[in-house]
Amino acid sequence: MSRMIKIRVPATSANLGPGFDCMGLALDIWNEITFEPAERITYQVTGEGEEKFNKGARNLLTKAFVRLHQICGRKAGGTAIRSRNEIFVSSGLGSSAAAIVGGLFGANEMLGNPLDKNALLGIATEMEGHPDNVAPALFGGLVVSVMTREEIITRHYEIPDLTILIVKPQIEWLTKTARAVLPKSVSRADAIFNIGRAVAVVDALRSGDLDLLQKVMDDRIHQAYRLRHISGGAAAYKTAKQFGAAALSGAGPSIIVFVSSADAEIARKKISGVFEERGLETKAIISKPSNWGTNRM
Ligand code: HSE
Repeated sequence: MSRMIKIRVPATSANLGPGFDCMGLALDIWNEITFEPAERITYQVTGEGEEKFNKGARNLLTKAFVRLHQICGRKAGGTAIRSRNEIFVSSGLGSSAAAIVGGLFGANEMLGNPLDKNALLGIATEMEGHPDNVAPALFGGLVVSVMTREEIITRHYEIPDLTILIVKPQIEWLTKTARAVLPKSVSRADAIFNIGRAVAVVDALRSGDLDLLQKVMDDRIHQAYRLRHISGGAAAYKTAKQFGAAALSGAGPSIIVFVSSADAEIARKKISGVFEERGLETKAIISKPSNWGTNRM
């Protein structure tokens, strides 16, 4: 096949407070990936993560690319894969989900689309372990995912143009660690606390009701356990809440906050300042939801 394919994959913020492992929102932050027939599989990144990824062709994206070929009973031919990355790495913005979805989607396009997006979701979820980032990365918007024994049920919702601020402290914080610090079981009171709020977060996001979102975007299942291991995390989260509905983005360490556009810059300074006072560098981005998921450009 002698054509070049170009796709883009969005960042995603999972959990959104109470929706632990079930809910995620696609953001208007993108990795753009091209796939071009070549002698062998190569992988090159510019932008976020370039120092980390340009060390060879074995990574999540190429693994996913090869995996899709295997599932379709085809051999992955030589392909030059180039990615221009905007998604912060190891940040709670779904960079690994974007790599998996990018590899699967690109391979599927190169093979003439033998699989539909639901089949891609199944493979991506198997590779990632949970669907809350990969589902919005594929479909866009807010996605609620339910795993049954037989299938992954998803519901997608379009979200209005809200202003979203993400602040990431430059620390090493692996999802593996972030999951290891969680308790194995939760109390009935904490489950009840989250269930009602998760439903209300969906309603608040769909209607763009920031007052409601600020009241209900709270959690007792994962955030507190994680924030105490992230230097400055609890204080930054508290500061973020002064500006709007805030949460740990995915497994962290980034904080996500839904702010009025007028407050975005001051909120960025204040939240970054909390980390910087502790000697940590930060990266920040002001964005909005994306109702587009991964697509061909
Ligand atoms: N729901 C996941 C977590 C997202 O919070 O651990 C990160 O992969």
